Amino acid sequence: MIIILIGGPGAGKGTQSEILEEQLQMVHVSSGDLLRDHVKRGTELGKAADKYMSEGKLVPDKLVIDMIEDRLLAPDTEHGVLLDGFPRTEPQARALDDALDLKGRAVNMVLYINVDDETMIDRISGRLMCRKCGHIFHEKFMPPKVPGVCDECGSELYQREDDTRETAIKRVASFHQQTKPIVEYYRSRGVLCEVDGSKPVEEVTSYLLSCLR
Ligand code: AP5
Ligand code: MG
Repeated sequence: MIIILIGGPGAGKGTQSEILEEQLQMVHVSSGDLLRDHVKRGTELGKAADKYMSEGKLVPDKLVIDMIEDRLLAPDTEHGVLLDGFPRTEPQARALDDALDLKGRAVNMVLYINVDDETMIDRISGRLMCRKCGHIFHEKFMPPKVPGVCDECGSELYQREDDTRETAIKRVASFHQQTKPIVEYYRSRGVLCEVDGSKPVEEVTSYLLSCLR
């Protein structure tokens, strides 16, 4: 199974991926997480991507496509992948189709988590992440039991560098300009399932699972 999660910044892709990954026993591949790891390790790709990410712009297609195609060659992806944040432009969607086609595979389902712009911006501005296990919190909507400490592993929580209100507004705009067209691309192919992402986390999960049934 190849499942794609599409949604604007803060729509809940990472939160839902963490749950679905466990429930469906699929490998979670997040383009944002892979890019942040490159930035942290100071690779050539990380150096090139850093300025785009911190300005809330999309990283050029070629860089992201090569990175994801590389990740999809790993044997752990053979039994199913949950793609979070990729593709998010038309060239990326076409490159993914071509790469899957070569292996006799195709995108099975695209889950679109639809959330209004103000909610996305509020969610991003208050998000906190665990430095060690990556678990996602929110200072108001999903607060940790102890401020600044991860409930799951006890490590420190931090705010992503690109999680300012100003950058969030730019990321939302780029979602509308560059990613919305691929929602329609997948809708016209009959593989899209759209869910209301403004509901509580558990409710969104059950909508997503019902799309997959
Ligand atoms: P990426 O890391 O993918 O960021 P994003 O798309 O902006 O999405 P986020 O991770 O911010 O949000 P999310 O939907 O995962 O929400 P989350 O679950 O965390 O990409 C970062 C950057 O990398 C991009 O800007 C770009 O530069 C680059 N990049 C990545 N992929 C690329 C690509 N394919 N092409 C080019 N460039 C690329 O939730 C957010 C908050 O809301 C959390 O605090 C959470 O607790 C809370 N929350 C979640 N669900 C709910 C709910 N139902 N109710 C209340 N609160 C909720
Ligand atoms: Mg995310």
